[in-house]
Amino acid sequence: MADLPEGLKYLPGYLDRPAQEGLVDLVRHAVADAPLYVPVMPGTGKPMSVQMTNLGPLGWVTDKERGYRYQATHPVTGKPWPAIPEALLSLWDTVSNYPEPPQACLVNFYADDARMGLHQDKDEKNFAAPVVSISLGNTCLFRVGGLNRKDPTRSFRLASGDVVVLGGASRLCFHGVDRIYPDTSTLLKNGGRINLTLRRVTLL
Ligand code: SIN
Ligand code: FE2
Repeated sequence: MADLPEGLKYLPGYLDRPAQEGLVDLVRHAVADAPLYVPVMPGTGKPMSVQMTNLGPLGWVTDKERGYRYQATHPVTGKPWPAIPEALLSLWDTVSNYPEPPQACLVNFYADDARMGLHQDKDEKNFAAPVVSISLGNTCLFRVGGLNRKDPTRSFRLASGDVVVLGGASRLCFHGVDRIYPDTSTLLKNGGRINLTLRRVTLL
């Protein structure tokens, strides 16, 4: 695709249907142990429209008082996050071009009316490792810009099985999800979209 930021890899249809079904199964099991919860914005306490949980030694969380951060435990259950499944570790090995494994897999669940505003992924200490994003379920309209909020953006659709790698010069590009297109996938019985993002948090 033309005009994508340098360093952004867009891999449409990277996962076939059986691989997508396998990942949904793994996410379902993980969510039974580490339930989805509604994160809130720092300061205002305004709820986000996505629901979240994490896998891995570290998970990305946000709340009113303490803001955006990584922590080893689920904010509601207080338990460690479930492990990142082997299938995701091996996907990271294949697409990340980074020698160390991911430490966090953020699970975002979008109901068909959810969205995510334009933001940078910058709560990690490690910007040398890419962010690897996997889309499952209904198609979304994904927007990506530059390193400044006001830079021009371009939008494209991410369908179930698509993978995006924000690496190199694109690692800190602003991005967001403008909308979900209902009834565009049969993967999730009750609709919506799951996005998994794999990240390296620490340098070593
Ligand atoms: C995110 O930026 O955390 C999610 C992006 C997506 O849902 O595709
Ligand atoms: Fe992000």
